[in-house]
Amino acid sequence: MSGPIIAIDGPAGAGKSTVGRAVAERLGVGYLDTGAMYRAVTFAVLRRGVDPRDEAAVLEVAGSVEMTVGEERVVVDGVDATSDIRGREVTSSVSFVAANPGVRSLLVEAQRGWVAKRGGGVVEGRDIGTVVFPDADLKLFVTASPRVRAERRVAEAGGDVDEMEASIIERDRLDSTRATSPLSVDAAAVTLDTSDLGIDEVVAAVVAEVEARSVGGGR
Ligand code: DC
Repeated sequence: MSGPIIAIDGPAGAGKSTVGRAVAERLGVGYLDTGAMYRAVTFAVLRRGVDPRDEAAVLEVAGSVEMTVGEERVVVDGVDATSDIRGREVTSSVSFVAANPGVRSLLVEAQRGWVAKRGGGVVEGRDIGTVVFPDADLKLFVTASPRVRAERRVAEAGGDVDEMEASIIERDRLDSTRATSPLSVDAAAVTLDTSDLGIDEVVAAVVAEVEARSVGGGR
């Protein structure tokens, strides 16, 4: 049995996870948040007292960590890290871990294994349509203005909108200028700007796109 592979890429805070989860549920397929995998490795790096900028040491952690990135919970070396991977410490170090080419190869291999095992699914990240699954059935690039993304984050987690906007712009800069797999838009991707759309409208637009391509009923 195999189903569609749906790749969702885009910058932080654009609504990828909300869209990805809802689309996976509508299609009855699995959902993988690859950002959570980079965050889980970062959590292990910090917990083991390793400098996130030390490429060799970080790669060693990535190769030896036991992690389960599930739809509900993330467990790292036997510890429930579901909320800590979203915390300030991990968030401020994750860009260094995501820029590590060895870590990227390990995680890309794990992501391909996840899809192969399930015969498809919704996979969300930064390089999914460009690098991980260039042959995905549908590629989406979900985006929104830095201001709107900052407002959404602050509404969820509190804080100052101007500061949040500045940190989002900085993280975008790091993610799009790094040497390995920078965030970029695949030529075949459908771009969805969620700045002025509610989540229901975005999910409806994606499901319409899936149906238009008839990728929802398996291949
Ligand atoms: O989507 P997120 O904020 O949880 O992602 C965390 C970090 O991981 C962010 O710096 C981008 C990076 N990332 C990546 O480089 N490639 C992916 N496929 C997913 C996330």
